[in-house]
Amino acid sequence: MSDLMDQLSKTVSYIRSRVKTEAKIGIVLGSGLGNLAEVIKVDEAIDYADIPHFPVSTVKGHGGKLLFGELGGKKVIVMSGRFHFYEGYGPHQVIFPVRVMKLLGVETLLLSNAAGGVNPNYKVGDLMIINDHISFFTTNPLMGKNDEAIGTRFPDMSEPYNKELIAKAHAIAKANNIKVHEGVYTAVTGPTFETRAEYKLIKVVGSDVVGMSTVQETIAAVHCGMKVFAVSVVTDIGIREDDNIITHEEVLQAAKDAEPKLTLLFTEMVRQC
Ligand code: HPA
Repeated sequence: MSDLMDQLSKTVSYIRSRVKTEAKIGIVLGSGLGNLAEVIKVDEAIDYADIPHFPVSTVKGHGGKLLFGELGGKKVIVMSGRFHFYEGYGPHQVIFPVRVMKLLGVETLLLSNAAGGVNPNYKVGDLMIINDHISFFTTNPLMGKNDEAIGTRFPDMSEPYNKELIAKAHAIAKANNIKVHEGVYTAVTGPTFETRAEYKLIKVVGSDVVGMSTVQETIAAVHCGMKVFAVSVVTDIGIREDDNIITHEEVLQAAKDAEPKLTLLFTEMVRQC
């Protein structure tokens, strides 16, 4: 057994010793988007700090708990708080929980994040369904020894975000009068927000939003054969006019304001998955 598999099985055994819930759907909540956790009927909550080999989240706005419970009539596992590169974690640590969820039986992963809009049609508070991504400035999390028991050495990435789930999300958004965009998410490491020149570059290469998460988790999820659906909440506009200074507080506030739409969308997605 590889060292990674050994760690994963210890983590999974610990979680199984505490929780009996079996879930096929996993959810990762992004910055300022932790309130979905409040509509979940929680059976069990485990602090990340108690889980063997789990990194511990250090960022304001991230809860740091693995929740097991019910949403939209289905059992779910929810990461309330995720791990980012900019916190100093290695790429393998960032994706570790995705692999844990897979071994716990998760087949579909719903991801959310706060992101900066670079598409000029986007406004603060808008939702964007991610249909593709660009991994910019980030080390690929699958670098290093590959364990074939987890996935193949060279995974295809022609369709990282599941088309059927995207179609479902559009139908749900329409039925509930929620405006959604669909577009490309570009991942950067952060923690700096982008310079004027970087936002321009990110726009020119074909991105609609930019953020500091999600892509690594998506790569890991595709690698181990999960279906992925991901949504960005536009929390700031990355066009640097003279007075456009972006703060983390503003990002958290915008995420909070947009949260009810995201909660509804995710709840219905889970119900229909
Ligand atoms: N850039 C990068 N990450 C982000 C942004 C941004 O403008 N907003 C929220 N996360």
